[in-house]
Amino acid sequence: MPAMTDVPIGLIGGTGREGTGLARRLARAGFSLVIGSRSTERAREAVAALGDAAGRIEAADNATAIRTAGVLFLCVPFSHARTTIEAHQDAFQPGSLLIDVTVPVSFEGGKPTFVEMPEGSAAEHVRRYLPEAVRMAAALKAIPARMLGDVDAPLDCDDFVCGDSAEARDRAIAILQRFPGLRAIDVGALDAARVLERMTLLAIRINRRYKVHDTRFRLVGLP
Ligand SMILES: NC(=O)c1ccc[n+]([C@@H]2O[C@H](COP(=O)([O-])OP(=O)(O)OC[C@H]3O[C@@H](n4cnc5c(N)ncnc54)[C@H](OP(=O)(O)O)[C@@H]3O)[C@@H](O)[C@H]2O)c1
Repeated sequence: MPAMTDVPIGLIGGTGREGTGLARRLARAGFSLVIGSRSTERAREAVAALGDAAGRIEAADNATAIRTAGVLFLCVPFSHARTTIEAHQDAFQPGSLLIDVTVPVSFEGGKPTFVEMPEGSAAEHVRRYLPEAVRMAAALKAIPARMLGDVDAPLDCDDFVCGDSAEARDRAIAILQRFPGLRAIDVGALDAARVLERMTLLAIRINRRYKVHDTRFRLVGLP
């Protein structure tokens, strides 16, 4: 059986701030990666910009990343999650795991505003359009992309992981536990994302009020 780090992780829309931050963190943790994009050329540029971190990172279009990776992170803006998934229905492999990091917050007019999703959360919205045979978890919604990319700094916080099955949560947690300073906590079914996504908005508001950038969460009382 191949080691966990030998099965490539794909980043759908991996060329943005979240995708490249995550790519740095995952690469440092020893994973091989495929950065996906709507444009292979943009994916290549993103990989080139990672410099030394790019050792085991390949560039591809989103369809190829989805087809070849056993685990996928969905790194597109929440407003494009549905169309991205719908456009690639045939590329998803049964038994693969998709980890959703999308947060339904808009910054129109400079004001962070929570966008109510008909399904209750962005994660449940994604689940609705994902092929049934793909397992799904949601994680990393409240950790700033900049911190993920600052790989010499331990994350020094907790992350709350929900998912559509215990297996999905366990697989996501096994990956996140390889990030130094991160404790990944299983918070159960996907509807927990209704709380988690609002916690991200809270963190953004605290950042603005206190003029900081890296507010995140740490739970007490859990051994
Ligand atoms: N930034 C953070 O600190 C942070 C933290 C936690 C969670 N998140 C979540 O992570 C996700 C990505 O955030 P980000 O800051 O990286 O966003 P971003 O830079 O605006 O977008 C990420 C990538 O999405 C792709 N994309 C843009 N428009 C698209 C469209 N119409 N259809 C399909 N793909 C499109 C682009 O890739 P290509 O042009 O290469 O296809 C882009 O590079 C968001 O859902 C966000 O809520 C972000």
